[in-house]
This record gives sequence, structure tokens and C-alpha cells, in this order.
Amino acid sequence: MGYDLSMKVWRGDRKSGGALQDYKVEVEEGEVVLDAIHRLQATQAGDLAVRWNCKAGKCGSCSAEVNGRPRLMCMTRLSEYSPEETITVTPMRAFPVIKDLVTDVSYNYEKAKQVPSFAPSAPDRDGKRRMKQADVERGQEFRKCIECFLCQDTCHVIRDHEENKPKFAGPRFFLRYAELDMHPLDTNDRRNLSQMAAGLGMCNITKCCTEVCPEHIKITDNAIIPMKERVVDRKYDPVVWLGSKILRR
Ligand code: SF4
Ligand code: F3S
Ligand code: FES
Repeated sequence: MGYDLSMKVWRGDRKSGGALQDYKVEVEEGEVVLDAIHRLQATQAGDLAVRWNCKAGKCGSCSAEVNGRPRLMCMTRLSEYSPEETITVTPMRAFPVIKDLVTDVSYNYEKAKQVPSFAPSAPDRDGKRRMKQADVERGQEFRKCIECFLCQDTCHVIRDHEENKPKFAGPRFFLRYAELDMHPLDTNDRRNLSQMAAGLGMCNITKCCTEVCPEHIKITDNAIIPMKERVVDRKYDPVVWLGSKILRR
């Protein structure tokens, strides 16, 4: 059965700032937050800016904060809330607002550019490259990322600390570094791993990134912690340290 949903939606832009505005929106059973936003846009707020594409949790475009929690609007069912509850929708806090619910996520694209690309080793004599099935499977989890940037949004290292952004790649890109580092055919120079991992030391394993990931990627356990262990091995293991010094000559 349908009902009138009470909503607060952040309206404004980068230049003039903004505020939460109250709305009542007719919603139907089985709908998601993005449906309510679309109906609001269609009936009362034609100029409401919202980014979306697939409506199936796969494009990563409709990221916002619902009642203060980073969520994909298209995957957040209204039935998670009681009909009397007011739902508050705000733009992702870690990124600058462009307008209403749309943020400028270019920080992430800058971080993506800094990740050294995959450099495959020479093929075997028969022209093929081989790797173990376990290595193939390990990388699959990391490639499920839809680049919604909700993990980046929730991470306290940058959420309210703009000053940390230059030196911190963030959980989404720790995932990418880990994927490359664990790839048995990648020949990129790993000696400066800690530098490459761009601020890995600033992560204190709060696991908030893992909690909000809509793809349920175990970012902390399967990417960040193994990366940290490798960095520690390299830094504090005297054999690894000596080896890296000799090899560098
Ligand atoms: Fe989104 Fe998860 Fe990828 Fe982070 S790791 S960008 S939360 S899909
Ligand atoms: Fe941030 Fe995730 Fe580490 S939320 S602090 S990157 S565990
Ligand atoms: Fe594509 Fe929500 S619209 S993930």
C-alpha cells in the first residue's frame, strides 16, 4: 500500500551553499529511495540534481547518504524504514558538492591515475602466460568494484580531512594496489610498495569501508591488511631490507 513519505533532501550548490528542504512524496510498496527521489523530481522539484544510471546497483552512480549512512539510493529499500520515519538524503560528504545530490568525485580519478599500470611478464615459450587458479580467483573479488566511492566517502581519514587527500589513496585504490601486487604476472617494481600504496599507514583498520561496500568486498581483510603485512615485512625484515638494498645497486 502506498503512503506519503516525509523526506528531507539537501538542496544547494557549491557557490551559494544549501540546506535541507522538507518534502512529502507519494511512494508505493516495494520502492527504493531513488524512486522517491525521481518522483520528487517529476512532481515537485524539477531542477533537483541527482546522478544515476542503471537502477540495479551496478553502475555506482547513485551514491549518496541516507540518514547519514553512505548508500546506493537504488539499492536502499524504503521498507527498511518505518512509514512514519523521515528519510534524509544528502550528498556524499567527503567530496565537494556540485549541485544538490551530485558531488565532484574527481579526487578518485586523480588517485586512479597514480596507480602504476599492469606490466605483464614475458610469455612462456609457447606464447602463453600461465597463472595458478588460486591467483585468478583471488583477483576476482577485487574486480567486483563498481566505483561507487562509498568506501572513500565513509573513510574517516578523508571524510572530514581535506588536508589528508593528497597523500591518501583511499580504500578503493588500496584494493587496486593489492590486486596488482598479488598478481603473479605483474612485473612492476614493488620495492617502493609503501610509497605506492599512498598513505596505507594512515589507515587504522576501522573497517568502515568494508561495512558500506555494496559489492561486499572484504576491502580491509583481503586487501588492506595483506598489503600492510607486505609493507611491514619489507620495512622491518632485515633480510628483505638487505636484499632490496643490494638489488637496488
Ligand atoms: Fe564501491 Fe566497494 Fe568499490 Fe568501494 S570497493 S568503490 S564501496 S564497490
Ligand atoms: Fe579507512 Fe577502511 Fe582503513 S575506512 S581507515 S581505509 S579500514
Ligand atoms: Fe546504478 Fe544505483 S543507479 S548503482
